[in-house]
Amino acid sequence: MDEELRVAVLVASTREGRVGGEIGRWFVERAAGHGGVVLDVLDLATFAIPARLPAEPTAGMAGFAKRIAVAEAYVVVTPEYNRSFPASLKQAIDCAYEEWRAKPVGFVSYGYRAAGRYAVEHLRDVFTELHTATVRDSVCLDLLEHECGDPGAGPHGESAGHAASALLDELIWWGLALREGRRARPYRG
Ligand SMILES: Cc1cc2nc3c(=O)[nH]c(=O)nc-3n(C[C@H](O)[C@H](O)[C@H](O)COP(=O)(O)O)c2cc1C
Repeated sequence: MDEELRVAVLVASTREGRVGGEIGRWFVERAAGHGGVVLDVLDLATFAIPARLPAEPTAGMAGFAKRIAVAEAYVVVTPEYNRSFPASLKQAIDCAYEEWRAKPVGFVSYGYRAAGRYAVEHLRDVFTELHTATVRDSVCLDLLEHECGDPGAGPHGESAGHAASALLDELIWWGLALREGRRARPYRG
């Protein structure tokens, strides 16, 4: 349906033994229940994106860029590594350029006490360079609180569920507004 927004959910961690897969699944389940979106999960662990950028894009890089082009909005599920986001994510982001433009980006971050907020702040800079609109509200999960979640409200508690809803409401608003904007006039920037 035309009103449903095509949202790509990027699962950023490719680390062996990662918790990112579980957090990505949790968010995708919340987003599916929220409605208004058609989801495409881009798990970076399943893309063959080389660590050393080649002169010409590989099939893995081109395949990733194509999925970015098709999406109308993005949610990045990212851990925090040494006060930033993982290199695997930067390498993937850099595989596309025009494909990101004039679309909104939201964040689900996780880590220890800061809950991935430093990673998100760095990502806002990167995504500004790519002419995206980053949404204000994000989901920030403190892994040290993980065991304390409300058992009736999913693995990350009720407050995380509310944060996911706020993020999705903003992402959908921006996504539909920017879809109309791109149709009305070519983005110049
Ligand atoms: C190399 C590395 C650096 C990390 N640095 C931070 C950090 O600066 N802040 C933080 O809150 N957690 C940090 N952590 C903890 C991670 O957020 C935590 O291990 C998380 O599970 C990583 O996500 P993943 O399991 O999906 O890869 C770090 C973990 C790794 C592996």
